[in-house]
Amino acid sequence: MVELYIEFKGAELDNILEVKNLSVGFNIDDNFYYVLNKIDLSFEKGKIHCIAGESGCGKSVFLNTVLRLLPKNAEVKSGEIYYNKDNILEMSESKFNTYRGSKIVLIPQDPFTSLNPLYTIENQLLEINSLKNISNKKEIVKNALNDVKIKNIDNVLNSYPHELSGGMKQRIIIAMALISNADLILADEPTTALDVTVSNSILNLLSEFKNNGKTVVLITHDLSVAYNYSDTTTVMYLGDIVERSDSQQIFKNPLHPYTKALLNALPAKRGKTLENIKGQISPITQPVSGCKFHPRCNNVFDKCKSVKPVIENINGDCVACMLYGK
Ligand SMILES: Nc1ncnc2c1ncn2[C@@H]1O[C@H](COP(=O)(O)OP(=O)(O)O)[C@@H](O)[C@H]1O
Ligand code: SF4
Ligand SMILES: [Mg+2]
Repeated sequence: MVELYIEFKGAELDNILEVKNLSVGFNIDDNFYYVLNKIDLSFEKGKIHCIAGESGCGKSVFLNTVLRLLPKNAEVKSGEIYYNKDNILEMSESKFNTYRGSKIVLIPQDPFTSLNPLYTIENQLLEINSLKNISNKKEIVKNALNDVKIKNIDNVLNSYPHELSGGMKQRIIIAMALISNADLILADEPTTALDVTVSNSILNLLSEFKNNGKTVVLITHDLSVAYNYSDTTTVMYLGDIVERSDSQQIFKNPLHPYTKALLNALPAKRGKTLENIKGQISPITQPVSGCKFHPRCNNVFDKCKSVKPVIENINGDCVACMLYGK
């Protein structure tokens, strides 16, 4: 197995999160289907790390495994997940409950699901664990709302979630993450429900976490977001890592045919005609042999249909494709 988490930049890094040999799947009608396959990944502290891929690639299952929020029919078949040096998967539920929401926070796709519709924003913010036994709670809350560029703070504090726009709710969730003092922020396509201008301001706020030494794992299906906002990009296809590199390098010189196809499908790609990726991502109930991308790949050759490529480091870019390497 290639130890990507160590090989990525040639030296052992100060990682906040390390994932080793992680395999996860679902039990469906008496059969087991893999969604993540032997994932090795590391996330260096104080950086923004993007995980990119089309819908159905396993991005949310990955985040939910880290947060131990998988549904009942899911099973972790192998692997370890270290937050600093603690194996999250081996912790008791009560111990992990002291991590989730305080050391590790989720910024979800739909902010509404994280806010309680029955309480005002003020009630919810004052209840955050890190504010327990603190006398100047309200001042801390107001400062956080100011940090996320909310202007009419008193009105917002008195509002219920349904009275606020999607962008405003997402700002509140980010303020919650600030107040919690978490050092690992997992953001699952946090701007999908928002229009472009609001999206950019939310992504800028997420970037600011990095200035405070925090780490963000940002899930996206849009490689231009990865390019503009992240330090590293991991491209995932059907539960496999197909390419991982520095975000600038991956955008300027992609190696894997899937990464190239994702880039060619970007609307503003240097005036070129937009190219849809042919075919569709397979459902997990129909596993694909060999290289999982082979039914859709423009460079496919015979061997791709039966042999699974291993990930290799090609001049600092880790790629799993038989066009490269040995
Ligand atoms: N509870 C579940 N039961 C069965 N299959 C699931 C379940 N949740 C997700 N899946 C499947 O797992 C795959 C990966 O899903 P997901 O991680 O949500 O993809 P992404 O976030 O990349 O769009 C998809 O094929 C999806 O249908
Ligand atoms: S291994 Fe073959 S099918 Fe897979 S991406 Fe490379 S060329 Fe395409
Ligand atoms: Mg998802």
